[in-house]
Amino acid sequence: MNNIQKVAIIGCGFVGSSIAFTLMQSGTFSELLLIDANHQRAEGEAMDLSHGLPFAHPMDIRAGSYDDIADCALVIVTAGAGQKPGETRLDLVHKNVEIFKSIIPEVARRNPNAILLIVSNPVDVLTYAAWKLSGYPANRVLGSGTVLDTARLKYLLGERLQVDSRSVHAVIIGEHGDSELAVWSGANVSGVPLDHFCELRGFYDHDKADEWLHREVRDSAYEIIRRKGATYYGVAMAVKRIVHAIVRDEHSVLPVSNLVQGQYGIENLCMSVPAIVGRNGVETTLEIPLAEEEHRALAASAQTLQQVIQSLDL
Ligand code: LAC
Repeated sequence: MNNIQKVAIIGCGFVGSSIAFTLMQSGTFSELLLIDANHQRAEGEAMDLSHGLPFAHPMDIRAGSYDDIADCALVIVTAGAGQKPGETRLDLVHKNVEIFKSIIPEVARRNPNAILLIVSNPVDVLTYAAWKLSGYPANRVLGSGTVLDTARLKYLLGERLQVDSRSVHAVIIGEHGDSELAVWSGANVSGVPLDHFCELRGFYDHDKADEWLHREVRDSAYEIIRRKGATYYGVAMAVKRIVHAIVRDEHSVLPVSNLVQGQYGIENLCMSVPAIVGRNGVETTLEIPLAEEEHRALAASAQTLQQVIQSLDL
């Protein structure tokens, strides 16, 4: 029987250790297992985090191996190479699929009932690879997808419109990458259509704003990586949001990457479209209304991912 209070993080680099730090602060779990090819790295992270526990919540944080994973309710995978300056997420695919071929079967063999949350990039292709390699039902294999991109869009819109980003309702869907798209047609600020709210704030040329914002969101990771070498805090917060929806059975609507099976006329690939997330992973994938150009952009994003998936030996 899996322990809902126990989570494993595979990969203790910048992203994995930031997720561990974020989850430790949130008091969500009583056991946090850290696994890394460099076991000493995992041990060091476990020690460092554990020394902060007197300021947080009692929990057991330890470095372990795949043998310790058997009763984890949730397994978060961040292992793999990260983008170098100028590299796209898709450039990482062959290297990281090979790493997944060594990791995912080890997890599935010991723990047939966990939920797999993929963070490594290219996250959509690796979520699909994890689904294939694990043999898990699709609902229990999801990726962080465009949850972070959506947060970036909300932040940038909030800044531009001088409104709390939590009151901005907009979503990025498709590939977590260069072919992603913003669903402007449904965007609003507490029910006020975005175009109207822009005019209320004196921004009339929202077409330019849309283009500018979309570029800002899509290129955020490149700009951060160019400056500090990697991104990890934003994605760690995005992962915490997904984890809470699962562990607390929140039935939250989040644009996680999951197997699309006919919705929007797309099938047999993983990409981000809004889905209801709860205790069993993805409960339902939603088909939200899209404008004609948004439908076309989503189909193009799916085509990009489909071409990569077809090039893989899974
Ligand atoms: C980013 C990484 C998580 O977008 O792909 O920051």
